Amino acid sequence: MKRTGYSILQKIIKNHLAEVSDMRPGSEILLKVDQTLTHDINAVMTYLAFEQTGLEKTQAETSVSYLDHNLLGLDFRTADDHIYLQSAAKKYGVWVSRPGNGICHVVHTARFGVPGKICCGGDSHTPHGGSIGMMCIGLGGLEIASVMAGLPLRLTMPKIVNVRLTGTLPIACNAKDIILEMLRRYGTKGGLGKAFEYTGPGAESLAVSERATITNMGAEMGATTSIFPSDEQVRRFLHAQGRDDDFIELLPDKDCFYDELCEIDLSSLEPLCACPDQPDNVIPLKQVEKKHVQQVFLGSCTNTSYKDLARAALVLQGHTVHPDVSCTCAVSSRQIYLELLKDGYLKMLVDAGVRILECGCGPCCAIGQSPATNGISVRTSNRNFKGRSGNPSAKIYLMGPENAAATAIRGTFACAEDILGDRMPILQGVSEPERFEAQDSMLIRPLPLEQAKTVELTKGPGIKFLPLPPALEDELHIRVSLKCPDNITTDDITPASAEFSSMRSDIPSMSAFCFHRFDPDFAERAKEYGQSIIVGGENYGQGSSREHAAINPMYLGVRAVLAKSIARIHRSNLINHGILPLVFADPADYEDISMGDQIEAEDLRKDLSEGFVLFKNITKGTQIKAKVQLSDHEKQILLSGGLLRYIRAQLKME
Ligand code: F3S
Repeated sequence: MKRTGYSILQKIIKNHLAEVSDMRPGSEILLKVDQTLTHDINAVMTYLAFEQTGLEKTQAETSVSYLDHNLLGLDFRTADDHIYLQSAAKKYGVWVSRPGNGICHVVHTARFGVPGKICCGGDSHTPHGGSIGMMCIGLGGLEIASVMAGLPLRLTMPKIVNVRLTGTLPIACNAKDIILEMLRRYGTKGGLGKAFEYTGPGAESLAVSERATITNMGAEMGATTSIFPSDEQVRRFLHAQGRDDDFIELLPDKDCFYDELCEIDLSSLEPLCACPDQPDNVIPLKQVEKKHVQQVFLGSCTNTSYKDLARAALVLQGHTVHPDVSCTCAVSSRQIYLELLKDGYLKMLVDAGVRILECGCGPCCAIGQSPATNGISVRTSNRNFKGRSGNPSAKIYLMGPENAAATAIRGTFACAEDILGDRMPILQGVSEPERFEAQDSMLIRPLPLEQAKTVELTKGPGIKFLPLPPALEDELHIRVSLKCPDNITTDDITPASAEFSSMRSDIPSMSAFCFHRFDPDFAERAKEYGQSIIVGGENYGQGSSREHAAINPMYLGVRAVLAKSIARIHRSNLINHGILPLVFADPADYEDISMGDQIEAEDLRKDLSEGFVLFKNITKGTQIKAKVQLSDHEKQILLSGGLLRYIRAQLKME
């Protein structure tokens, strides 16, 4: 029988098509975007680009600028960034969430998210908002400027995977164990070209905060997005936020069609742990070798909901953090902080010796609390890449907050059950508050247009310029400036840390540290070569959406990346900053190319239209065939000299 119904994502996409499109997987779709979000360590480039569109205000219904990542203020540069971003928000009709109000995804879902809408965020974990039935996509900063300019979002229609959850999550488990189970099954590349739609009786039983842990970490599988239905749980969540009017029910039709099915019986799960250095290196927590743990971090947008931290506090209650463990906690939002304070859970954490940091990203992206040399750090966050904590010698393990709390007490890997024993049922008594104090005093409203027009942008000396790439030429004569293995992350390309995050508005300074921890000589070599190509393995550019991982190499003269595969957001960032993303036609050719090799291609424009580039390796006397799968739109961006020039052309400014 022919199915006529639609899944949740298909419904949202159908309602937002900017032009009639084929909705089959792999087709390009153009979507109208309702909301945008940006955050401080990626957004300066976004607003510098938006400035150049000449538009008076954001064209999205709601745009919010979050100051949440770099709150350390190592020197004047962070303050300069924040002041510029606040002035840009005033000028362009954008809300501001002030430092201390909380992490973008958590605050956005709670205070702005609306089921059925489309939100694009300049951060890979934007799908957090899929927890309320909103379609949320992580993009690079220039793409955010593009949708703020009113241009449609161009997306490759993903395959939609129905993840059917049955059974009940055991008391010892956290939603983290559901997404770690997904990562165990799919791996860090298994979500490429896919979107995950969670349904079933198991999904119905999960609170929005638990769903958010799952949709947030869908990014770790490379998924385009992840979503849950907008059902009674979402109604309850929006009621708790005092936003009942924003609720709409959004369920999949009974006869809808999915491209793939995955089933998880929640009752069969046990506490899991992602071991270093990839989030899909998942094993049962009980099997992790009982080594000494130096640091525990209860934090990040992924797993510091009220329920998460209340349960962690109950494990810690009456205990003291092990003397050899440094245990910190950054609550994800001020709203949650106040509820935990009111209900006594923060006191339990403090009594146990947990050090409370400010509400923000902090250690998750290496803004403080780097572990000791070779130290083991247990975190409730979403990424455990080498160097993600700011110290490449450290080893990061990811797990749910209850077990992280138990680990903090024992000083080695432990489960909540090891501490609570037959008192485990106390964890079952914790649920999300029925009503949060809807405290928006740390949100700054957009100004009326007439007033906004008079605002002057404030740019301190730390804010430099947005470099633009040259248009793609017909011939390439380049050298291999770097050859890297599989799973290079954007953290490897542009290291995370307070120091490097402070440089993100100053590309000339920051580019000197490009690939610094991976190959300290890269920047100098790339500059010496003039124009160059990077050779990568599988899943090149996975992880964070930061477009600095494309801007810095471009600034250093990188014109192409040739890899076995390239992660979705990074691939877009490369194109948007004028770097040609290429994939080996035969992955075995990876072995025949070395750093320093001289590579040439002729007739590039013709090759682009044929989908293959034939490179001559002049040094080795061989040929390499590379696939170049670009949409017409992407070709135009490369031929225009990057997305900003393309946007300006679309807006008829050039
Ligand atoms: Fe921030 Fe880490 Fe989430 S950097 S947005 S808390 S993934």
